[in-house]
Amino acid sequence: MRKILLEKLERERVLSRSEFITLLLGYDEALAERLFERARHVREKYYGKDVFIRGLIEFTNYCKNDCYYCGIRASNGRIGRYRLKPEEILGCCEKGYALGYRTFVLQGGEDAGYSPEKIASLVEAIKRSHPDCAVTLSVGEHPREVYQRWFDAGADRYLLRHETADEEHYRSLHPLSCLPENRKRCLYDLKQIGYQVGCGFMVGSPGQKAEHLAEDLLFLHKLQPEMVGIGPFIPQRDTPFGDQPAGSLEMTLFLLGIIRVMLPDVLLPATTALGTIHPQGLERGMLAGANVCMPNLTPERVRGQYALYEGKSEADGKATENGKPAGVGKALKILERRMDAVGYRVVVSRGDCRRGLAADEI
Ligand code: 5AD
Repeated sequence: MRKILLEKLERERVLSRSEFITLLLGYDEALAERLFERARHVREKYYGKDVFIRGLIEFTNYCKNDCYYCGIRASNGRIGRYRLKPEEILGCCEKGYALGYRTFVLQGGEDAGYSPEKIASLVEAIKRSHPDCAVTLSVGEHPREVYQRWFDAGADRYLLRHETADEEHYRSLHPLSCLPENRKRCLYDLKQIGYQVGCGFMVGSPGQKAEHLAEDLLFLHKLQPEMVGIGPFIPQRDTPFGDQPAGSLEMTLFLLGIIRVMLPDVLLPATTALGTIHPQGLERGMLAGANVCMPNLTPERVRGQYALYEGKSEADGKATENGKPAGVGKALKILERRMDAVGYRVVVSRGDCRRGLAADEI
């Protein structure tokens, strides 16, 4: 039965809600292996053995929201707040460009101290210095006009995880001021404007059931995003969910495989959270269908303060030399070696989504 569901998923690129639930509850290692084999097959059809890298710049950890799972939530008084100056962000891009990065992801909390105009100027400055690079924004929910302004400034892509497609579950993870319908409105606005859009969710977030994950998968089918970011939930001690259990490596990998088969040409990162819960998380992610990595280019000085969850900065800065952080160049070398070891190769490329390309253009 479960084998038949995998075949149907590959053929039709979607299942019914109840079929997704059956597949998710029917998880076992043999089924996962079979899924990963199909996921690698479709991944390689579109992207070969290439691994795209994105230079992640966490430029502000101020946030007006108070999401129950997130370490940079507004009411967490135990972390120091920082906001990088445009010159410093441009410096990170400069360094990253020299190393071979051709996409920069500007990620931050919803920070009123960084006005839409300031972000637009920043995007313009990066595109001026690096016209051959893509700029991805990941700064939360905003009015459509603001998204349009940033797109006109040159932003290419936008990441906004939907977190969970189930409204009731969404309300259990967020305060009343965060509305599930607004989240989805943002994603559709971004798509209509013309961004390459990424949504996504945490695996094993508190209260998550197979039913919710089935809704998430159906939402992906409906939105048809160019990118999907998923990673395990990892508790952060200074949040209301600080004592909740983490999501599992196995279920995250299984979902990566399902998403790759559903959306064969999607850009799918092996996320930092996946690399945090298991020492081989990034490699295992690639072998389950992922094709993107997002190494951290945030200056060492503030990196520990972007504490979304426990153990994040350690995973980011794992590349140490004599106990000291080894810097972004060495970290990339280590990543390249890790990818090589499982048969993949990090490439110098913008790494755009290959959707809609004819077979001979791939
Ligand atoms: N564990 C895992 N992922 C988290 N995020 C926020 N907090 C956590 C956590 N405790 C994810 C959210 C958010 C993204 C930037 O990080 O999905 O969208």
